Amino acid sequence: MEEQNFKQQFQEMAQNLPKGIFHRLPLKKLQGVPVMNIIADHFENIATFQARPDDLLVATYPKAGTTWVQEIVDMIDKEGDAEKCQRAPTFVRFPFIDIWPPPPLIPGVVDAEKMPSPRILKTHFPFHLVPKSFWEQNCKVIYVARNAKDNAVSYYHFDVMNQTQPEPGTWEEYLIKFMEGNVGWGSWYDHVKRYWEKKDQHRILYLFYEDMKENPEQEIRKVMEFMEKDLPDHVISKIVQQTSFSAMKENPMANYTTVPKVFLDHSLSSFMRKGEVGDWKNHFTVAQNEVFEEDYKKKMAGTSLRFRTEI
Ligand code: A3P
Repeated sequence: MEEQNFKQQFQEMAQNLPKGIFHRLPLKKLQGVPVMNIIADHFENIATFQARPDDLLVATYPKAGTTWVQEIVDMIDKEGDAEKCQRAPTFVRFPFIDIWPPPPLIPGVVDAEKMPSPRILKTHFPFHLVPKSFWEQNCKVIYVARNAKDNAVSYYHFDVMNQTQPEPGTWEEYLIKFMEGNVGWGSWYDHVKRYWEKKDQHRILYLFYEDMKENPEQEIRKVMEFMEKDLPDHVISKIVQQTSFSAMKENPMANYTTVPKVFLDHSLSSFMRKGEVGDWKNHFTVAQNEVFEEDYKKKMAGTSLRFRTEI
């Protein structure tokens, strides 16, 4: 029932939007990082956001497993009560602070201001664009990183279905843009490296999508300890089950199917698409892989950060 209410509410809102207002928004450089124009044009309102010391920020490069870790965090926070986690879709439960959409939509930071503490917030900003108050307030941050190849494949499919992002073009064209950092929220390479460098100077829990796939219970326990919670084994097992790909794919409050087609067109690709490690092998040609690897070595030289592209 709730699902239908949300669907209807968003549908009505979408019907009242000026036509094309969110369609394939152009990217604009913000301090060197390409972002949607609705972010760049209002960044002063976002950068001055006041974090609270008990905020928990989920930070990721797009398509690294944001929604997954958000569900895990919520299930831990609600001590395994799946019904409580079904109270609203992901994007309502966790304000996305980066976006400043035109009315009648409400910017994430405005939504967050009205929220009681403790808040769980989401950002895709690279480290240097995160509002300074998060660091001043010593907030906890959970960062999830995913190997570049799977991340690129997932982002490509997302940009096919996400009507607010620029047209991805062909996979071949997209891969070049990804390598150049010419996609929304910029360079994957800079993003993952910078949070990695900063993780010991701040309260940042740095997780990997591949580890979460390989051993979800172990990674869920890390998140639980970071959140200073102590849940019994049977609750942890329930969280593992409830946050599995198959469960989340069927969960309308986690799978983004309540979002109207003008934003996300699920007939082109699903938000919960495959949820695998190694799907890149189905998309990269041998030649693309060679070029990618060569470029990767240069861009990732000098960092101790290591990824797995298969498990
Ligand atoms: P794929 O496109 O490879 O399927 P984000 O939430 O950051 O936008 O990331 C979305 C990606 O995470 C999608 O990847 C989606 O399927 C995957 N994902 C979401 N929930 C997941 C889960 N419970 N287990 C594994 N992958 C999940």
